[in-house]
Amino acid sequence: MPKKSFDFDICIVGGCGHVGLPLGIAFADQGQKVELFDINKVVIGKVNNAVVPFKENSAEKILKKVIRAKTLHASNDITAIERSKVIIMVIGTPVDEHLNPKISDIIHAIKEIEDYLSDDQLLVLRSTLFPGVTDKVKKYLEKKGINISVAFCPERIVEGHALTELYELPQIVAGCSDHATKQASDLFKILTKKIIVTHPAEAELAKLFTNTWRYINFAISNQFYMIANASGYDFYNIYNAMTEDYPRLKTFAKAGLAAGPCLFKDTMQLSSFSGNNFFLGHAAMLVNEGLPDFIVDAMKKKYDLPKSTVAVLGMAFKADNDDSRESLSYKLKKKLEVEASLVLCHDPYIQDSRFVSLDVIRKKADIIVLAAPHSIYAEEDWQSKEVVDMWNYYGNGGLI
Ligand SMILES: NC(=O)c1ccc[n+]([C@@H]2O[C@H](COP(=O)([O-])OP(=O)(O)OC[C@H]3O[C@@H](n4cnc5c(N)ncnc54)[C@H](O)[C@@H]3O)[C@@H](O)[C@H]2O)c1
Repeated sequence: MPKKSFDFDICIVGGCGHVGLPLGIAFADQGQKVELFDINKVVIGKVNNAVVPFKENSAEKILKKVIRAKTLHASNDITAIERSKVIIMVIGTPVDEHLNPKISDIIHAIKEIEDYLSDDQLLVLRSTLFPGVTDKVKKYLEKKGINISVAFCPERIVEGHALTELYELPQIVAGCSDHATKQASDLFKILTKKIIVTHPAEAELAKLFTNTWRYINFAISNQFYMIANASGYDFYNIYNAMTEDYPRLKTFAKAGLAAGPCLFKDTMQLSSFSGNNFFLGHAAMLVNEGLPDFIVDAMKKKYDLPKSTVAVLGMAFKADNDDSRESLSYKLKKKLEVEASLVLCHDPYIQDSRFVSLDVIRKKADIIVLAAPHSIYAEEDWQSKEVVDMWNYYGNGGLI
């Protein structure tokens, strides 16, 4: 039988998101013909006009290049899937309001595209998945008579640095068959030299363990910060004494709000996988989610909050990023609104009509809380104001 010819090398389902878009740009920049399939028409329009809908270093320059070269295009045309040799699925995999993984989202998305899948394609799952989901997808498609190759190849980039890390990080590849592993390895060798082969459930756990390890690591620092502060000691004097020329503490993080779209929900996915016996994960969640409460309680003791205007600086979930998903800055804001006379918010990267300019903050705020330490705040001189700096960003210690 003659081999089927495809219009596209790769179709990315969820292709205009934080993971899908940089991945598509990277493959297109390597000469692959990439179609991004997404359901969000607004972001599709932006991408086709060479606008990156979020902050991602170097992405816009390369996006312009690949749009001009016609190696990358975005659409909501589902038939692009049947016209592609490889389909990479990278839609969101959140936990629900009871912190259970929503496996149904992935299964639902597979059901939506199954009519466009065929035996001669490769389906790569790239979202962070609950362990066992890759095998479940493969078995579901087999039952439907679709013998497509299926592999799980988790995304491990850090937001903002995708277009360097996609080329530098080794790629974990876990096929449901040797053939699928070979096809997925060949695909990712286009981007990176090192491929690490493992079984699907091991790869799914490897990704969850990675994010959970980071989340717990941040929780350790945040717990130590709270212990030191509650006793009137400056955590950063202790931190500096511990880490200076001491190699075993290289990975000891600074204290600070630890949240975002991945670490919290992936720790909860792991907890669910362990039958909710993952006490360390839950403890980390209580510590990290409790830091805004600790900060506001300490501020209540130190300042006359009912008579104070407080400014929260940085509403993104981390520094120099515009992603507000699951940002603890909003929890901090809500708690402060109960206590303070007025709360003003600022973020240089997030458009929100409720936010105010730095000029207004300079004029009106009595107390500054540095929630996300964006680099532009380094230039500020808050001399006449009280500053709450859990990151020790200004180098004056983190004691509240
Ligand atoms: N954001 C990160 O830095 C990062 C890093 C590693 C892994 N991950 C994982 O990658 C996955 C995606 O995360 P993200 O941050 O890119 O999410 P995102 O919300 O930024 O992107 C998801 C995209 O999928 C689209 N979409 C949703 N349902 C769809 C459907 N049925 N068909 C087509 N398109 C659909 C959305 O419109 C959106 O553009 C998650 O599992 C996440 O845990 C994220």
